[in-house]
Amino acid sequence: MTDQPIDALTEEQAANEAADLRPQLLKWGQQYYDADAPAVEDDVYDRVYARLVALETAFPAIVTPDSPTQRVGGSTRGDLPKVTHDIPMLSLGDVFSIDELKEFDERLRSNVEDDFDYNCELKIDGLAISLRYENGEFVQGSTRGNGQIGEDITANLKTIKSIPQTLSRPLTIDVRGECYMPKAAFLALNERREAAGKAPFANPRNAAAGSLRQLDTQVTADRQLATFMYNIADYGPLNTRTQSGLLDELAELGFTTNATYQVAHNMDDVAAYIDQYQAQRSDLPYGIDGIVIKANSLPLQRSIGATVKVPRWAIAYKFPPEEVETVVRDIKWTVGRTGIVTPTAVMDPVALAGSTVARASLHNPDYLEAKDIRLGDTVLLHKAGDIIPEISQYITAKRPADAQPYPVPTHCPSCGAELVHLDEEVALRCINPRCPAQLAEGMNHFASRNAMNIAGLGPQIVSQLFDRKLVDDVASLYRLTTDQLLTLDKFGEKSAQNLLTAIDNSRNNSLERLLFGLGIRHVGAKAARSIAAEFGDIDHLMAADSEQISAIDTVGEIIADSVVTYFASDQVQQLIAELREVGVNLTFTGAVPASDGEGQFAGQRVVLTGKLQELTRPEATEWLEQHGATVTGSVSKKTDLLIAGEAAGSKLTKAQSLNVPIWNEAQLQAAMDETK
Ligand code: IVH
Repeated sequence: MTDQPIDALTEEQAANEAADLRPQLLKWGQQYYDADAPAVEDDVYDRVYARLVALETAFPAIVTPDSPTQRVGGSTRGDLPKVTHDIPMLSLGDVFSIDELKEFDERLRSNVEDDFDYNCELKIDGLAISLRYENGEFVQGSTRGNGQIGEDITANLKTIKSIPQTLSRPLTIDVRGECYMPKAAFLALNERREAAGKAPFANPRNAAAGSLRQLDTQVTADRQLATFMYNIADYGPLNTRTQSGLLDELAELGFTTNATYQVAHNMDDVAAYIDQYQAQRSDLPYGIDGIVIKANSLPLQRSIGATVKVPRWAIAYKFPPEEVETVVRDIKWTVGRTGIVTPTAVMDPVALAGSTVARASLHNPDYLEAKDIRLGDTVLLHKAGDIIPEISQYITAKRPADAQPYPVPTHCPSCGAELVHLDEEVALRCINPRCPAQLAEGMNHFASRNAMNIAGLGPQIVSQLFDRKLVDDVASLYRLTTDQLLTLDKFGEKSAQNLLTAIDNSRNNSLERLLFGLGIRHVGAKAARSIAAEFGDIDHLMAADSEQISAIDTVGEIIADSVVTYFASDQVQQLIAELREVGVNLTFTGAVPASDGEGQFAGQRVVLTGKLQELTRPEATEWLEQHGATVTGSVSKKTDLLIAGEAAGSKLTKAQSLNVPIWNEAQLQAAMDETK
């Protein structure tokens, strides 16, 4: 995209530029709508789109019928039943400044005789949905799709608590609004996914989109989605004749509406509303990406009408992306539970989108090298999906003259052992099993909610326990005394007692919690439960061979081999003996462990590449889709997983450079075995 002023262009230049922009936008649009996998940040799409609109507005002769400006955008995925929207679900035109907003207002007022008000609303960052009620009963729910035809997601929507099954009046109506994932639910979901070794969602909207397309509606139910309804296809059956009144009436009918709306008499009122919510944006429990203003009179809306794509009576003001400058002071390398060593940029603390940010992950050495972040660099920082701090780039002009590429460590920052790259992994690993940093991370996992569930034993306490040599493995936790705990920072009698009680209580957990908590490679909470239930106690399990373990329905060979290898180790046997000695229960007592509430590939975007040996591509795709994945053709930073067969080429290289998790065919087979 060029930034040449449009009025300096000839029609031919404009036509050429537009011809370049259209395929790009169509591609991004398709990735966004069809695969929930945006290839670029929304604001990049919006700006390129706005440029195309400007070119086509200045030179109407260059518009082509297939231009993205002539479509509502996107199409539906083939695997969900289609729903025709009798009255199309429109999108909104965008503006990016108050000046553009004023132009919109002037244009509208010049076409409307009488004075009129606007209703200002928050632009909720979710997915548009349409809910059909017949005689007051919820009968069908759908996505927007391409505006004319959407997908039937009735079963998924029925699990959302804020959607009423029955209205307070027996109306037949199509109500439209936004389905979103609250920020807290998003953070908790990603925490659970990471604890279970799954790729986190990039942002709440992607998480909501993935959740709404689940085949297993229990997964949708567990995702804590919410809705705000704000529109009706035909206001005929309502009593009200204003947009603000419509929001009140929808609430009376039983819908959840967003209460922050305000009627504005003029653009000063609108600007005040924008200021207010731009300032409060990060304190809201849900994401918003702008403000929508709508002519408040419903009959006026109807008489103003719409283009094929957007209403003429409403416009979205998009917030500028929040980006701040800060300086990188250090790059810290931390060791995770499985020995992966991750670089993190430590920066001068800055206020960004509602919190103070001083760290951003640089993921792995390849990512660090690609971004070329150096000490002393001034960098631009934003929050991906309004939540996760990410460095966009360093500012060339501000780079210190003597700045050097940051060296990748050769030895573990915790134990000093030599670091390695296993197989073709991009990740750098410490493979010393006694590495204190790994042991501390292992203890965090051991104490976590789905494992031994020791409330109050968080990372800060664990790291103090290791630093003060009060523990050296998970068994030693059970030998801690009140006096020892009193030596920890900010620990009094009461906190020491509470922690000891929590540790003590965990002795009685059923075996599956321990099995999961030990952090055996490939053994998730679900496999741990099946194994514990099958063998009944740890002695029978330790005596079992791989064949006996993989005979369990839900356990494959990879898991079974991993369990056998784990228990074959002298160190592990010693640990189990110690756990027995300190009174930790080693039998299955039938208690159902807290589930992580996840379908295996729920909402993940998976790419297949290379030649598979045992499976055909269609078989693998079908199985992945049945388990919640969206299988897409190209790797982007939004890809959650690449499955690489033999002779995988550029997709593999790209996935590695983007730090996308990579599986081989055997890992896919193991996952398939696990769910059999
Ligand atoms: S009104 C004809 N109001 O923004 C009515 N849309 O970028 C068109 N959105 O597709 C929609 N909050 O998914 C409207 N308060 C709000 C909204 C809102 C979020 C979404 C909606 C729409 C998209 C357009």
